Amino acid sequence: MIHATLHQLEVFETVARLQSFTKAAEELSIKQPTVSSQIKQLTQTVGLPLFEQIGKQLYLTNAGEELLNTCHDIFARLNNFEMTVADLKGVKEGKLCLTVVTTGKYFIPRLLGSFCQLYPHIDVSLQVTNHQQIHERMLENKDDLYILSKPPEDVDLERHIFLDNPLVVVAPRNHILSNKKNISLKELESFPFILREVGSNTRNVIQQIFDDHKLNIRVRLELGSNEAIKQAIIGGLGLSVLSKHTLTSSCYDELSILDVKNFPVQESWYVTYLSGKKLSVVARTFLEYLLKESINYTADKQLTLAHNHG
Ligand code: PGA
Repeated sequence: MIHATLHQLEVFETVARLQSFTKAAEELSIKQPTVSSQIKQLTQTVGLPLFEQIGKQLYLTNAGEELLNTCHDIFARLNNFEMTVADLKGVKEGKLCLTVVTTGKYFIPRLLGSFCQLYPHIDVSLQVTNHQQIHERMLENKDDLYILSKPPEDVDLERHIFLDNPLVVVAPRNHILSNKKNISLKELESFPFILREVGSNTRNVIQQIFDDHKLNIRVRLELGSNEAIKQAIIGGLGLSVLSKHTLTSSCYDELSILDVKNFPVQESWYVTYLSGKKLSVVARTFLEYLLKESINYTADKQLTLAHNHG
């Protein structure tokens, strides 16, 4: 393999990712015969076929899969090396890959804004998704850092708690229960609920509370977005449980938080990364920044701000 060039590995990785010689040529701005000849030379060096063509579909062989994993390792290390060199030169630059749970979008983008002003040479990729999808991304080692409220038990993670994430029962502003104190869960049984999609931690929490009290939850609607749920609550379709952070943006005036026993459920946010993963300089810098700055983003502080602006 010592004779394989980095360029060949780059061409190979691009073909494998795009599953097409033509698309790889386009992405790399080279001619398709060049792609073919690079792959041919690499195949000769390895001594085994790397791709298999069945019909129109291009598949990786076992050797191809192994080589692809090796390419990912090599490119990640080179990338890290570049960032370390940049750091030694006193410049923080490189790429930061972050995945945050749905409710993180209410403050992480703002925090990233101030971070990127401090470090303008850092590129950020931010994915926003639910807990189940984050779990899958962790298993594939897709990102530098993951921000979520319930770190999975079956993944070995370094974790730091950095902020509160209270879950509250939300109703339309003029709901019959809006001014009532100490509402029992039993009283909620007769009201329809709007739940998040399967795979959402928010959904699991509310389901678990009702199950623990041997109560049934009347599910009228399932929606995959906290923002859509807020609109559905305002539209009178039902009650829901949401992170208090989701109330800090639009619709604040049209909603009320119900005073229900067992609520708020006090969750916290964690910033995590895979144990044993050597964090890039950029990821480490962001982690430190997040731990220091997040104190300004508590749900209550944000709600007060929303209230004052409203
Ligand atoms: P979820 O998590 O998007 O998986 O419901 C949100 C949260 O726990 O705040």
